[in-house]
Parts: sequence; C-alpha cells; structure tokens
Amino acid sequence: MQVLDRIDGFRKELDTARADGKAVGLVLTMGYLHDGHTSLIRRSAEECDLTAVTVFVNPLQFGANEDLDRYPRDVERDVAIAADAGAEIVFAPPVEEMYPTGPVLTSIHVADVSEGMEGAVRPGHFDGVATVVAKLFAIAGPCRAYFGEKDYQQLAVVRRMAADLSFPVDIVGCPIVREDDGLAMSSRNVFLSPEQRRAASVLYRALQAGATDLGRARQAMADTVAEEPLVQLDYAEVVETDNEYRLVIAARVGTTRLIDNLGVAK
Ligand code: PAF
Repeated sequence: MQVLDRIDGFRKELDTARADGKAVGLVLTMGYLHDGHTSLIRRSAEECDLTAVTVFVNPLQFGANEDLDRYPRDVERDVAIAADAGAEIVFAPPVEEMYPTGPVLTSIHVADVSEGMEGAVRPGHFDGVATVVAKLFAIAGPCRAYFGEKDYQQLAVVRRMAADLSFPVDIVGCPIVREDDGLAMSSRNVFLSPEQRRAASVLYRALQAGATDLGRARQAMADTVAEEPLVQLDYAEVVETDNEYRLVIAARVGTTRLIDNLGVAK
C-alpha cells in the first residue's frame, strides 16, 4: 500500500500503472471509511488491476453552518481499511495541496441536475462536489470511478459533469450498503447517540412505506417519519426515470443530516 499526499506523485503512479497496461479503479471518499466505502473498493479491486482511494474532506462542499470542522477524520484507520478491501494506493492530500492558491476561483455548476432536493437545502453543495470531483478526475486520468447510490443526486451530478466535460472516466454506480435495521451506512452515523441511532432507522421504513404505496409515496414517507419524534423530515421526493421510480428522502436527527433512497422498478 502506498500513501501519497502530493498531486504529482499520485498522478505519476497512475500514469505508470496505465503505461504497464493496468486498468485503474478510483474510489473518491472524504474518509472515515465504512462498509459502504469498502463495497466500492472491493468492486473496484475485482474489476480493475489497480485501485486508488482518495481521502479528502473537501471544504468547498460544506456550507457555512455545516459540519466541516467536526467531520470525522482518521487517515491511519482509512489506510488500513482501504488496504484490507484491496486498494493499492491511498491519496490523502492536505487542503493546501488541493487548493494552494487559497480561495478557489473556478467552480463547476451542473445546472438542473444540481437543483432541488439536496441542491435546494444545501446551496452551493453540488458546485463544491462537482469542482473537487472534476479536479480529482483531472489528476487521476482515465479510469473507472465507483460511487455509492446512497448519494443519488450526487451520482447524477457527477455523471452529467463527466459526460459534459468529456472526462475519460467510466462512472459506476454501486448499491447502498445498509445496517441490519436498514439504516444506510454513512460516515455521519457516528454522530448519532444510541437513541438517535435507533430512531434513524425510520428513514428506511419510510422508503419502504413509499414503495408499497407509490400513488401517494411522498405522503406515505412523510407520515412514517412523523411517527418518530427525534427525526425531522427535510424532504421526501419521487424521481421518475425511464425504468424506475426513485424514492429519495432527507431528514435531520438532532444536528445530523441523513439521506437515503430506494429504487422501484417500473
Ligand atoms: O461522496 C463523497 O464522499 C464526496 O462528496 C466526494 C464524492 C468524495 C467529493 O468530495
């Protein structure tokens, strides 16, 4: 396992791997890896010859009142988990390496896909995500990049950005990994007290209620969340695509914001 913190070194390793005929897999993370991340790393390790994991808590995607400072960090632990899941490289740059000139003057905005749902509740969030993902794609070069479907809107934003800007990157969406009670795995789950943790499973129950009552899915999801006093609903939406309805939900449990979604085939 190689742990790199400089852009040049990381780029060189991936260029060398490709020159040796290796297919490169990329898993972008903000660290504090959990089983959701390891499922992405394992899939990349199965499908590619070399898997690189990036660990970078990207300040651009946090709003002024969000949890940038308290976002959990433990790079040593991340390196051990990434190695165990099959990664060969961890790229964990400091903020000054990624944004050496201080304020970033270039920003990527993916219109339409970024709007509504998370985009409405967290203004600027997807510009920050699209900008850092574009930068990491530009650094990494041609590869397959693995993203979790838990961040459903983020995946749509990244797909559209990569297509519009012709990045030589295949975007692979991977299924959500859940705890036994259905709670989607998230680095933010560590913020939940035991009582909040129990209450948080209502999100998955709400999605299931919506899936069994598609005609009034929004109301069914909202009614289910309302049964749990520790959880405040931000939104419950249904996104229709060619082959499915995607139920999408976001809620606050204390000061922790959780998102989740569930696809129902047409
Ligand atoms: O999903 C995440 O962890 C982040 O939004 C990402 C894609 C690593 C960009 O910072």
